[in-house]
Amino acid sequence: MPPIVEIRNLKKRYAPTAGQKEGQYAVKGVNLTIERGEIFSLLGPNGAGKTTTISMMCGLLAPTEGDVSIGGHSIIRDPIAVKRMLGVVPQEIALYPQLSARQNLEFFGKMYGLGGTELAKRCDDVLEVIGLRDRQKERVDSYSGGMKRRVNIGVGLLHKPELVIMDEPTVGIDPQSRRNILDTVKSLNQQGMTVLYTTHYIEEAEELSDRVGIIDHGEIIALGKQGDLILKVGEKDVLLIKVGEVAAKAVDLLHGVAGIDGVTLADGGSDTVRVLAGRGRAALPQVIKTLDDNGISIQTVEVREPNLEAVFLQLTGRALRD
Ligand SMILES: Nc1ncnc2c1ncn2[C@@H]1O[C@H](COP(=O)(O)OP(=O)(O)OP(=O)(O)O)[C@@H](O)[C@H]1O
Ligand SMILES: [Mg+2]
Repeated sequence: MPPIVEIRNLKKRYAPTAGQKEGQYAVKGVNLTIERGEIFSLLGPNGAGKTTTISMMCGLLAPTEGDVSIGGHSIIRDPIAVKRMLGVVPQEIALYPQLSARQNLEFFGKMYGLGGTELAKRCDDVLEVIGLRDRQKERVDSYSGGMKRRVNIGVGLLHKPELVIMDEPTVGIDPQSRRNILDTVKSLNQQGMTVLYTTHYIEEAEELSDRVGIIDHGEIIALGKQGDLILKVGEKDVLLIKVGEVAAKAVDLLHGVAGIDGVTLADGGSDTVRVLAGRGRAALPQVIKTLDDNGISIQTVEVREPNLEAVFLQLTGRALRD
């Protein structure tokens, strides 16, 4: 079976805007494969090219170069088959404010070719998923931003797509709706749906994704499983080991232990040793043994996980812009 998403050398050059001689490339040759059953996060700052990439994937924007296959169907040659397979949740909310949540779902469901009892059942199911069953009859313009976003997501799920693409669905909403959306993504995925999720929030990519692609200036600058990405850039775990007054001696003992890249006394007090290791947890047994062999007992250990922020910083030299 072909992968659910295959992006090949995808490029987009926009027409020049005022003051530009020639159009700029917003997407500069993206290659990406997404397997069935994944939650894949496309993580990147404002203007990185996330929405442009997604717009090409769902046929809203013609690529300047390259192609995308969804389930083996080319977006250029077979856009109808592609539309059947994917649900899109756009960054901008696209709902009728005077209609209720249910009426919106019914309207968009009909556009997808659903009707009758099937449509009614799908609306019931989707309202349950997005947690708005109780308030389905209220007008959308009376909803909070977060509730509107949830209806927006519901629209993308109506025709039970194999792949759902969500473009920054949690920007600017309340924590409760954000929680609902993240949990919805996970439960949809557990039911077998593949999810492509774009965000500029590192912690969301961390929580949700199997694999992450970091995009900046129209290019994928890192791609892979979170753990692999972190290791690849040489980001290290920090172990904070509290041993009491013998900390200085512990530092001496731990120098030269295999798998450890650095040992110092921790800041702000001399009862704790700070160990830097490529894989802190893997180094821990050797650390414990070395200290134990020398009669030093460990009071507490804290592992500070390296994170995607560190990866992004390493790659781009700056934090994610908001
Ligand atoms: N219609 C357009 N015409 C010209 N340039 C555009 C157009 N749409 C987007 N761009 C430019 O393309 C680049 C990528 O924009 P895009 O909207 O894809 O980024 P994004 O990653 O979705 O950002 P955000 O997180 O703000 O949504 C930006 O430099 C943007 O200014
Ligand atoms: Mg965008």
